[in-house]
Amino acid sequence: MTIGGGVVRLSDLADPVPALTAFERIFFESSVRTVFASEGERRSFFRRWTSFYLEQCPDQVWFWQDPQAGEIAYLTGCLHSADAGLLYRDVPGYALFESQFPDFPAHFHVNCQSEWRGRGLGARLVEHFMEECRRVGARGVHLVTAPEARNVGFYQRLGFTVRQTRPFGSRSLLFLGRCLMTETRE
Ligand SMILES: CC(C)(COP(=O)(O)OP(=O)(O)OC[C@H]1O[C@@H](n2cnc3c(N)ncnc32)[C@H](O)[C@@H]1OP(=O)(O)O)[C@@H](O)C(=O)NCCC(=O)NCCS
Repeated sequence: MTIGGGVVRLSDLADPVPALTAFERIFFESSVRTVFASEGERRSFFRRWTSFYLEQCPDQVWFWQDPQAGEIAYLTGCLHSADAGLLYRDVPGYALFESQFPDFPAHFHVNCQSEWRGRGLGARLVEHFMEECRRVGARGVHLVTAPEARNVGFYQRLGFTVRQTRPFGSRSLLFLGRCLMTETRE
């Protein structure tokens, strides 16, 4: 499969329905949790992790759109993590790293459709979001993952080198930050 297409913004799509259908498919394909007691529980899990971005930050929901395959990867971003009241309420562990929010105010989630992984689309979406963050003058960007996740190396290669680990229930969460203030532009 060759890579064509480019980055599109949810709020710019005349008909967002195909992109939102792809979004939900990619979300569940990428989720660590796969078993739900009911359809209601599955819906509420999806809403907990996505509704803030889809409803309150549609300008920072980005897709990689392939001319044939359609939307095959997405990034949901938030430029002001400290102001995201719904995430404090809904996302388990969201406040764990809030002391880092002043230096790394923006955050994101990125997921790629399984058969399109490892072809650089995730990196391109992250770099695109970095440009948005620089444009608004954000000091830094962060994400939270698991210390044992395969994606840790992916983020470190992209310059997310500030690390902090915190216990969370029976496991740990890993904060990874990239400072934008010290970066020089080409
Ligand atoms: C992480 C992810 C968004 C990166 O996007 P991508 O387009 O695949 O990444 P790139 O091609 O730019 O970079 C390659 C890296 O992607 C990740 N990756 C590639 N194929 C993968 C796969 N089949 N399963 C999981 N991660 C994979 C790896 O981290 C890989 O680096 P590695 O080979 O050194 O381990 C994407 O692989 C993905 O959706 N993975 C599963 C869900 C996930 O981990 N999301 C992030 C949650 S914090």
